[in-house]
Amino acid sequence: MEINQELVDAINDQLNFELYSAFIYLSMGTWFEEQNLTGMAHWMEVQFQEEFAHAMRFYRHLTERGARVVMKQIDAPKTEWKSAHEIFADAYHHETIVTERIYKIGDMADRLGDRSTQAMLTWFYNEQTEEEANTMEIRDKLKLIGDSIPALLQLDTVLGARPPAAPVPAESTAP
Ligand code: FEO
Repeated sequence: MEINQELVDAINDQLNFELYSAFIYLSMGTWFEEQNLTGMAHWMEVQFQEEFAHAMRFYRHLTERGARVVMKQIDAPKTEWKSAHEIFADAYHHETIVTERIYKIGDMADRLGDRSTQAMLTWFYNEQTEEEANTMEIRDKLKLIGDSIPALLQLDTVLGARPPAAPVPAESTAP
């Protein structure tokens, strides 16, 4: 089934939005580097790599379907925050926006009867549940920590143990 151009455009936009997400997390990472919160900086760097892999899943899907990918200008991300809590609050909020965008692509795929796109999106539905849960949990822990430096440093150590990002998938529906 030939992929509908409306769907190509929406997936292409999301591909570029995932690269914007990668920029956001790298910008957050450099803020943490400056604070010497190297564990949180590491967590953000892994997230940057994950977002790149998300973009590549959409890239693979469009390529597999015979569509052309169009790279677009990526907005500059925010660079200043008041606290680690504010950063993770922003990260959680950003992930809710990503989820809404992906659900809208799913609605479009439903309307157009494109089951191939739906199959590809299934991975993202699960991934967004995890991404929202992770950022929400860290945000809430930072709220509990408040002004406690020892607790902040302990959480920094925990987040520094985040495993490396999964490699870029060879196929859009890779597990
Ligand atoms: Fe690619 Fe964090 O959603």
